[in-house]
Amino acid sequence: MQYLAIFFTAFGLANAAPANDLAARQSIASVDRYAGPGCTGTICNKAGSGDLHAGCNTITDSCTASLHLNYAPSGCQVTIWTDTTCTSFTHYANITSFECYALGPPIQSISVIC
Ligand SMILES: *[C@@H]1O[C@H](CO)[C@@H](O)[C@H](O)[C@H]1NC(C)=O
Repeated sequence: MQYLAIFFTAFGLANAAPANDLAARQSIASVDRYAGPGCTGTICNKAGSGDLHAGCNTITDSCTASLHLNYAPSGCQVTIWTDTTCTSFTHYANITSFECYALGPPIQSISVIC
C-alpha cells in the first residue's frame, strides 16, 4: 500500500512539469479548415481550433473536407493525413503552398514537423 502511494506521488510530480508541457502545447502554425470541398462551407476556426502544435494534431470536429495554411515557421513540413495518428502513408499530402488542399477522404490529422 505504501508503495502505491509513493508511486502515485512521483507520477503526479512528473505530470506537473511545466516547461515541457508549455512547449509541447504552444501552437506554431495555423490552418483554416472547412466542412465543404474547395475551402467552402462551414469553417472551424473558433477559439483557435485551427492552430497547430508541433507533432501530430488530431482533428475532432466536422471540418475535415479541405483546408488552407495561414502560416507555419519556415523549414517546418506541414502534412495532412487520412488517419488520426499522422501515419497513413497510403494517402497523404504535403502542404507546400497557401492554396486549398483536400485528400478526397476526410482529413483526420495534420502534422507539423520542424
Ligand atoms: C512529402 O515530403 C516528403 C519529405 O520531403 C517526401 O519524402 C514525400 O515524398 C512527400 N510526399 C508527397 C505525397 O508529396
